Amino acid sequence: MKETAALPIARTVSALRQMVDAWRAEGRRVALVPTMGALHDGHLALVRQGLRQADRVVPSIFVNPIQFGPGEDFAAYPRRVAEDAAVLAKAGAHGLYLPSADEMYPAGFATTVTVAGPAQGLCGAFRPGHFAGVATVVAKLLLQARPDVAVFGEKDYQQLLVVRHLVRDLDIPVDIVGVPIVRECDGLAMSSRNAYLSPAERAIAPQIHRILLDVAGRLAKGGDIAAEEARGRADLLAAGFSSVDYLEVRDAETLVPPASLGRPARVLAAARLGCTRLIDNVAVPGSQ
Ligand code: PAF
Repeated sequence: MKETAALPIARTVSALRQMVDAWRAEGRRVALVPTMGALHDGHLALVRQGLRQADRVVPSIFVNPIQFGPGEDFAAYPRRVAEDAAVLAKAGAHGLYLPSADEMYPAGFATTVTVAGPAQGLCGAFRPGHFAGVATVVAKLLLQARPDVAVFGEKDYQQLLVVRHLVRDLDIPVDIVGVPIVRECDGLAMSSRNAYLSPAERAIAPQIHRILLDVAGRLAKGGDIAAEEARGRADLLAAGFSSVDYLEVRDAETLVPPASLGRPARVLAAARLGCTRLIDNVAVPGSQ
């Protein structure tokens, strides 16, 4: 385990376990906050939630190559570990897990964790292999750190449900805690990928949230699901999005398309502005 001035950094599984085991020996409850770095206030909300749920919080930073498809932004994904470590120390994190790709996927690595159910459709349809990559690395992170709690953001709502399913199906003893989306003042969900947006694209980007809220509001007043999905997709294109991967209404717990709105529901969208793919989601009011 290598110490920086402010934050102990574990770069190997054994250093991470040494860190976590020492906390456990003191009777501390431990929260893991998995991230890919380039941290913003949305990530810090996860750390704050971890601090509420546990005595010790260890975020991880690992840009996971196997959750990016060919032609996606793995190489371009922002990496600024020194700044991230300083921000995490200031936010009150107690350690940082910073594995290398070789530590995570040593030569001969041959296992993939595939989740069906909530991983199907939505981003799962547009990013083949993405959720297998996420499930594999999250399973590894949970088994490496063995935390009491792990914290994930609701911005990646489908990912949150995939992770909940994963730990339930594999009997991984951890509580998964979801944290509401943190937004910029104009409603744009915070994301490391917002940095890719040109000024003109950034001006259009918050419309995804406004359009989702409009769809959810009309559904709450009895709007027809298929008609509202189609209208929402058309509104995204009219607002200036280059293309729409999906805008769909789903059951908030299972992500199954609902026939009607008797249960909690969520409206989820993914749309592209130039080279940047934005995702967002909102609850349908009154469906909770
Ligand atoms: O949400 C993310 O940043 C990533 O998908 C995660 C959960 C850290 C897995 O790589």
